Amino acid sequence: MDVGIVGLGAIGRQLCRALDDGIPGLRLAGATARDRAKATDFLKSLGSPAPFLSLDELIAASGLVVEASTQQHLQEIAPKTLRAGRDLVVLSCGGLLGRQDWVDLAAANRCRIIVPSAAIAGLDGVKGARVGAITSVTMESRKPPRGLAGAPWIEQQKIDLDAITQETLIFEGSATEACRAFPANVNVVAALSLAGIGPEKTRIKIFAAPEFPLNRHRIVVQGEFGRLVVEVENVPSENPRTGKLSYLSTIALLRELGAPLRVGT
Ligand SMILES: NC(=O)c1ccc[n+]([C@@H]2O[C@H](COP(=O)([O-])OP(=O)(O)OC[C@H]3O[C@@H](n4cnc5c(N)ncnc54)[C@H](O)[C@@H]3O)[C@@H](O)[C@H]2O)c1
Repeated sequence: MDVGIVGLGAIGRQLCRALDDGIPGLRLAGATARDRAKATDFLKSLGSPAPFLSLDELIAASGLVVEASTQQHLQEIAPKTLRAGRDLVVLSCGGLLGRQDWVDLAAANRCRIIVPSAAIAGLDGVKGARVGAITSVTMESRKPPRGLAGAPWIEQQKIDLDAITQETLIFEGSATEACRAFPANVNVVAALSLAGIGPEKTRIKIFAAPEFPLNRHRIVVQGEFGRLVVEVENVPSENPRTGKLSYLSTIALLRELGAPLRVGT
């Protein structure tokens, strides 16, 4: 299958490299990004150089499109890709909340929207738990202050991140509210809510934590199955907001697409 990559940042470039190194059954069809010259240079540097394409050309050339750009760009990518009947892997999955219309579009065009675990783990357990009754899903995210810079919530509340010298609660709310307040920081809670009890009932607290250099996520799920606790400490990639596990997990997902053995829910 031909794979098209949208966005050549921390995640997109690693996905291109992995496809270039070889994933059985998959081939890099091309990529698109905002900065054409930079993107073209990168694509030329691959072992098997791939073309820079417009979004429309990329969708036409691909059986599977991977979105690794922004929630805002997803608003254009998703309907175009799904209307063309192409499978869509979504990294900016906060943008999927409330978009049942896209799920319906995928069903009507016999394609799928796939959300990788990316920066979080344990979604297999959450999906299993959801088959029975779940009473609560809560998450706490701790990030170095600079990992929260530029978020709408930080700007609206006029929070001076440089002045934070000890762990500070910055935000508390539902997954829906968190994804609006921090569109580039908490896609993990969107994925968690889609795997579990939905974005209104899934709760998150976000802390700025200057004393620890990694992004940390802690999930607690309670239900008839018992109690699940997941903790992840993510080493940042070249983008301080994006942990390395985000692209490693997506590469694992691509490898599993064509694999004869699949492990995990
Ligand atoms: N689901 C998760 O757990 C998870 C984890 C990490 C990152 N993410 C999300 O994945 C996305 C990609 O992350 P990243 O670290 O690679 O980002 P990045 O900022 O490093 O790269 C983004 C890329 O998208 C491109 N882009 C943005 N808007 C565009 C547009 N309108 N047209 C064409 N190209 C456009 C940029 O040129 C850039 O190449 C982000 O939305 C991020 O929040 C999700």
